[in-house]
Amino acid sequence: MGYAIAEAASAAGHSVTLISGPATVAPPDGAEFVSIITSDELHDAVHRAAPECDVLVMCAAVSDYKPATVARQKMKKRKTPFALELVPTHDILASLPRVNREFLVVGFAAETHDLELNARKKLREKNCDMIVANDVSKTDSGLESDENEVTIFFRNGESKKISRTSKKIIARELVKIISKMSEKCLTKKSG
Ligand code: C5P
Repeated sequence: MGYAIAEAASAAGHSVTLISGPATVAPPDGAEFVSIITSDELHDAVHRAAPECDVLVMCAAVSDYKPATVARQKMKKRKTPFALELVPTHDILASLPRVNREFLVVGFAAETHDLELNARKKLREKNCDMIVANDVSKTDSGLESDENEVTIFFRNGESKKISRTSKKIIARELVKIISKMSEKCLTKKSG
């Protein structure tokens, strides 16, 4: 979805920085590409890029936990079970400035149940300007599919559904909606 949004934004004439972990798709022509592997690298790259942007779209499915320690050498096999200690990663969205932010923040929420309730909770708690929610309990839309169906929730209580279609078309619709909202915010700032 991230690559489709980067491509749609680039095609609409926006200047795009795509921050991505390893992927099987090629980055769109014309986008600046920042390669990351870990959630810490993503955190740092987002904080570096965001102040220069008008809009931040966070659709990475960031791991919520990371190993507490990383072995420097190959670990030897044991005959007994062992537990891997995991610690929470930074919540990147929640770590962004909450006030006097100069850029619009679009979050994503992949939910298996209570889509609206959970998405609205994330919209508030992660202080996003809008959140794009999708139901990943269905096998024909979401993470591993070429198609998706999303509902966008806005801070003023409004929502907008984009019915099931290709990720490319969803990306184009999202770019249009985000551009309109960003223009409104920029007009408010300069006015
Ligand atoms: O809590 P959940 O992972 O469903 O929240 C989804 C949103 O939060 C997405 O926009 C995702 O990119 C972002 N996220 C984040 N940092 C994390 C986990 C998720 O910014 N550690």
